[in-house]
Amino acid sequence: MRKITVFDTTLRDGEQAPGCTMNTREKLEFAKQLERLGVDVIEAGFPVASPDDFEAVSTIAREVRECTVAALCRCVQNDIDTAARALKEAAHPRLHVFIATSDLHLEVKLNITRQQALEKIRECVTYARSLCEDVEFSGEDATRSDREFLLECCNLAVDCGATTINIPDTVGYDTPEEMYDLIRYIRDNLHQKEKVRLSVHCHNDLGMAVANSLAALRAGADQVEGTINGIGERAGNAALEEVIMAIHTRGDTLGMETGINTRQIYRTSKLISTIIGAKIPANKPVVGRNAFSHEAGIHQHGVLKNPLTYEIMSPATIGIYESDLVLGKHSGRHAFEERVEELGYQLSGEALERAFKRFLDLADRKKSVTNKDIEAIVAGLGYALPETYRLHSFVVNSGTVISATAVVKLLKNGEEMEHVARGDGPVDAAYKAIERITKTGCQLVSYNIHAVTEGEDALGEVVVKLRKDGNNVTGRGISTDIFEASIKAYLNAVNKVVG
Ligand code: KIV
Ligand code: ZN
Repeated sequence: MRKITVFDTTLRDGEQAPGCTMNTREKLEFAKQLERLGVDVIEAGFPVASPDDFEAVSTIAREVRECTVAALCRCVQNDIDTAARALKEAAHPRLHVFIATSDLHLEVKLNITRQQALEKIRECVTYARSLCEDVEFSGEDATRSDREFLLECCNLAVDCGATTINIPDTVGYDTPEEMYDLIRYIRDNLHQKEKVRLSVHCHNDLGMAVANSLAALRAGADQVEGTINGIGERAGNAALEEVIMAIHTRGDTLGMETGINTRQIYRTSKLISTIIGAKIPANKPVVGRNAFSHEAGIHQHGVLKNPLTYEIMSPATIGIYESDLVLGKHSGRHAFEERVEELGYQLSGEALERAFKRFLDLADRKKSVTNKDIEAIVAGLGYALPETYRLHSFVVNSGTVISATAVVKLLKNGEEMEHVARGDGPVDAAYKAIERITKTGCQLVSYNIHAVTEGEDALGEVVVKLRKDGNNVTGRGISTDIFEASIKAYLNAVNKVVG
C-alpha cells in the first residue's frame, strides 16, 4: 500500500470562494478539527493577502503542532518573506510558492515571457528554500501548459530546492485519462524523482476533480490536495472526504492508503458547513443526508437483512453513530459526559459546563435528546462567544389579518434593552427590533432553516448571513422554537460583528 499525503486547502483555496470567508477564530477551530481528522498538511492561508490572513496563518502555525502548516506565496520576495514570518512559530512549516506556467496566463495575466518565468522560479524557490526546509512549488494552470515547458519549470524548482512539486488543474479542464498521462510524464522525467513528492490539485468545473485526483494518484502522485465538502473557487476543489473514502473503500484496487481517521469525516464536514453557513446537499457523496438513507422498499428490505446489500461504506466509518439510547432530563451529568465522549468530543471545563446547561435546557423542552441533538449542541459551542448581546425574551405576533410585530428584549452587560418593530413576517419584525437595539447597520443576505432531528419536537437550526461593510458574517442558532432559533442566529452574527 502506498501512503498518500493528504493536503487540505479548505482554509486557503476553499475560503477564496464567494461567501466562504472565515475569521481567525473559526479558522483555528477548523484547523484543530483537521488535526483530529489526521490530514498531513493544512494550507492555512495566503498571508500577504491581508492582515487578517496573516493573523490566521500565524495563529494556526502556533496552535497546530501535529500537521505541517503551509502558507501560499506568489513568486514575489515580499510574499515569501511575509509567509515565512507568519509560519515563524510552526512546528512543521511549509512555504508554497506558485507561478503560472501556461502561455495564456503568462501572456495575459503576468505579461512575462517563459524565460522570465523561469528566472522568477529560480530566484524565488531558491530564496524560499533558504528560509524553510519544506518548499512546495506549483505551476498554476499546469494542465493547459506546454508539457515540456511545465517539466522544465518543475525540474528547475527541484534543482533550486523544492521538496514537493504540485500540478494544479486550475480550471478543472482535464479528463482523468489526460491527467493520468500528464502525471506519468512528470513523474518519469522529474529530477530526483525518488526524493521529491509529486502532488495533484484539481478543480471541479466539469465535475471530474475527484476522478482526476485518483487518476493522478494512480499515475504516481503521492500527495492529493483538496477541500472538505469540495468548497472553493467556482465549482470548487476536489472534495477531500470523497477522495479519502474512495481510497479507503477501494484500497484493494488502488493499492493506496491514507493516515486519515475516517471517523472524524462527518464532524469535519458538518463543522465547515456550519462555519460558512452552506448546507451540504442531501445527495452529496459520503456526507450528504441521503448518503446512507434508503427509501425504496426493496433497498430497505435488503439493508435490514444485511447493510452490505446497498451500502459500500458503513455510516460509522465516517463517524455517524445512530444510537437508540436517548437521553432525557433525568439522565444526569455523568450520562451526558459519557455520551459526549462516546461521540468523540473532548470537552472539559467551561465548554463542558456550557454544553451541559444547553442540554438541560433542551431536555426541558424535548422528550428525548438524541445524538444528533448533542452534536448540534457541541457544534454550536464555538459560536457562542463573545456574547455582547444576549436574548432575554421575545414576543412575536403574526397572522393573515394583522401585520407581524415583534418585541425583543436583549441583555448587554446586564442592562436590559427592548424594542418593538413591524415587519414582513415575524422573523423580519424580530430582526428589525434587534437592529433598532444594536444599530449595527447589517443587512440580511440569506436565511436558512432546517430540522436537526425528526419528530414534532425536532431541534431547528437557523443559519443566517449578514453583510456589513462588504463582508459576510454567518450566524447560527438552534432551538425547538424556530423563532427563538432565528433570533439566536441573528444575534450570533451580530455578536461577531460587534466583537
Ligand atoms: O488552482 C490553483 O492553481 C491553485 C494554486 C495556487 C495551487 O490553487
Ligand atoms: Zn486551486
